[in-house]
Amino acid sequence: MKHLADFYKMKEDKIPISMLTAYDYISGFIAQNSEIDIILVGDSLGMVIQGEESTISVSLKDIIYHSKIVRKGADRTFIIADMPYSSYHIDLATTKRNAFSLIIEAKANAVKIEGGNSQRIEVIKSLVDSEIPVCGHLGLTPQSINKFGSFKVQAKDSEAQDILLEQALDIQKAGAFMLVLECVPESIATTVTEKLTIPVIGIGAGRYTDGQVMVWHDILGLSCITPKFVKKYIDLKDIIQENVKIYNDEVKGKQFPMKQNVYFPIDKK
Ligand code: KIV
Repeated sequence: MKHLADFYKMKEDKIPISMLTAYDYISGFIAQNSEIDIILVGDSLGMVIQGEESTISVSLKDIIYHSKIVRKGADRTFIIADMPYSSYHIDLATTKRNAFSLIIEAKANAVKIEGGNSQRIEVIKSLVDSEIPVCGHLGLTPQSINKFGSFKVQAKDSEAQDILLEQALDIQKAGAFMLVLECVPESIATTVTEKLTIPVIGIGAGRYTDGQVMVWHDILGLSCITPKFVKKYIDLKDIIQENVKIYNDEVKGKQFPMKQNVYFPIDKK
């Protein structure tokens, strides 16, 4: 299994780091067999698995459940588990307890938390002091949807870009081992990547970050919307839809099951 030192070395050697979300046994298994460097059990599961409009309602219990089953399929891959909304906002003792459950019970290797304000920096420091590796997340932080109003590109003006860079440096100083940057202009993502010594992983952050992260459903064409930054490698939704329809038609038309699908077949007149 690759570990923190490997990710630092990859940044140093300019070897791109691949990260992909996974939510269950089979997606974990396929990600590992595809040699994905890091699996993220993201709270995006609220949208792609649970059908919610945002990630807000995802619970710690949900992330624990999904991380556990991903781990069963991916025993040799570094897993980052998202800390869901409200699981790190109350007090440090609760935050630590929640993060420990992701490491101990859910068998993740690290946790990810969103934001970079002073309260968040204290959270990162406290978790790192407790031997919990932390990945930061800046730019479009989906748990702030009620502040942003919609999922849109962040840090477009120079003032917002200065704040983003400052927060990224604070997150690094607090001890985070990695930073995810979501939906920001390529120029600021490049600056942050160059200024930080920890790896910066982009999603909708252009071509020059140290690695890329994508959502499982997005690259496989299983999502209902495809943002500009996504490359859909296959349109699985349509393929699955077509074949489920054929199955349905064959059941109705008595073409399935066939004799070869039957145990000890009989001939009925
Ligand atoms: O929850 C998630 O999948 C994420 C990625 C989009 C970075 O946080």
